[in-house]
Amino acid sequence: MKEINVALTGGAGQIAYSLLPRLISGETFGTDTKVNLRLIEIPQVVDKLKGTIMELIDCGFKQTGSLLATTDIKEGVQDAHWILLVGSIPRGIVVDGKKIEERSDLLRINGGIFTGQGEAIGELAQEDAKILVVGNPANTNALIGRTKSNNPTQSWFAMTALDANRAKAQLAEKAGVDIASVTNMTIWGNHSPTMYPDPYNAKIDGVSAVEAINDLDWIENEYLPLVQQRGKAVIDARGASSAASAANAAIDTVKAVDSQTTEGDWFSAAVPSDGSYGIPEGLIFGFPLRTSAQGSVEIVQGIELNDFAKSKIKVTTEELLSEKEAVKDLVD
Ligand SMILES: NC(=O)c1ccc[n+]([C@@H]2O[C@H](COP(=O)([O-])OP(=O)(O)OC[C@H]3O[C@@H](n4cnc5c(N)ncnc54)[C@H](O)[C@@H]3O)[C@@H](O)[C@H]2O)c1
Repeated sequence: MKEINVALTGGAGQIAYSLLPRLISGETFGTDTKVNLRLIEIPQVVDKLKGTIMELIDCGFKQTGSLLATTDIKEGVQDAHWILLVGSIPRGIVVDGKKIEERSDLLRINGGIFTGQGEAIGELAQEDAKILVVGNPANTNALIGRTKSNNPTQSWFAMTALDANRAKAQLAEKAGVDIASVTNMTIWGNHSPTMYPDPYNAKIDGVSAVEAINDLDWIENEYLPLVQQRGKAVIDARGASSAASAANAAIDTVKAVDSQTTEGDWFSAAVPSDGSYGIPEGLIFGFPLRTSAQGSVEIVQGIELNDFAKSKIKVTTEELLSEKEAVKDLVD
């Protein structure tokens, strides 16, 4: 069997609970690959991971390698091939007697976390390590982590696949088709309510989703808010945030990055901009991506953007620039 080292922060959290079994079941990295899992947590909850590890052992997957729980990010990411940065400090938590409500405070607190994690990854993980940031604010956390990693051969991604899956599901429901009919979904920009899920370039059975649905008012006025506010709708209904679908999206992203993309299709994740579509270089931005037969991930070029799309992309770009400004001492 081949072996892969996978590190994950936030191992005792909600998303991790859904994610971990699927990382070692053969589903994500293949049935021929043994997965050595390193779970990284903060000291207050690291002991809970013992229970999680007991459950992972009890799953009895043949692909289970070594299982480690640690508070030491360096130990966790040493020689890691894939690193899933799921842990972060949520809005509403009290830090040093202050309730963290403002996005700028959230950015700064998580910025501190992603500084140390980025440095450790750059120094100790594999030279071709792939890093997926799930913890919010995901794009700017990834920007900080990547900057601090200072390692150009590693690849950083921030997760927009949950948004893409939601965006596909809403189109499928509206069109009355199977989800498999919906392809070519892009989430442009930030994983936040300013994201732009692109219905013009998404396809339903090979035709533009806008044409297939033929209801411009719904597309431009109802569809976008439905996708952008879906996370809140889940919280309102479930009383807890979307963990199973977020875990599923993380697995979708790992598999999409690691395998050649189906001809004609693409997938969605945020990556460092190379200036494509006029997006400022280096910003971690949601783009349409393809993985080549050789394994490199490329931004799909030549996608047409109408004025509606351009206006939405401008808003999400400006938000990401203002997030960058809020942490500029960490990313300059
Ligand atoms: N990108 C997306 O599409 C998406 C979707 C859903 C959730 N999220 C985000 O994912 C994150 C995790 O969600 P959850 O529901 O699992 O939250 P959770 O609060 O249940 O778990 C987060 C875990 O991270 C841990 N953690 C905090 N700081 C850490 C650090 N420095 N090192 C290691 N672990 C640390 C916490 O102790 C906690 O166990 C949140 O930020 C959430 O907003 C992102």
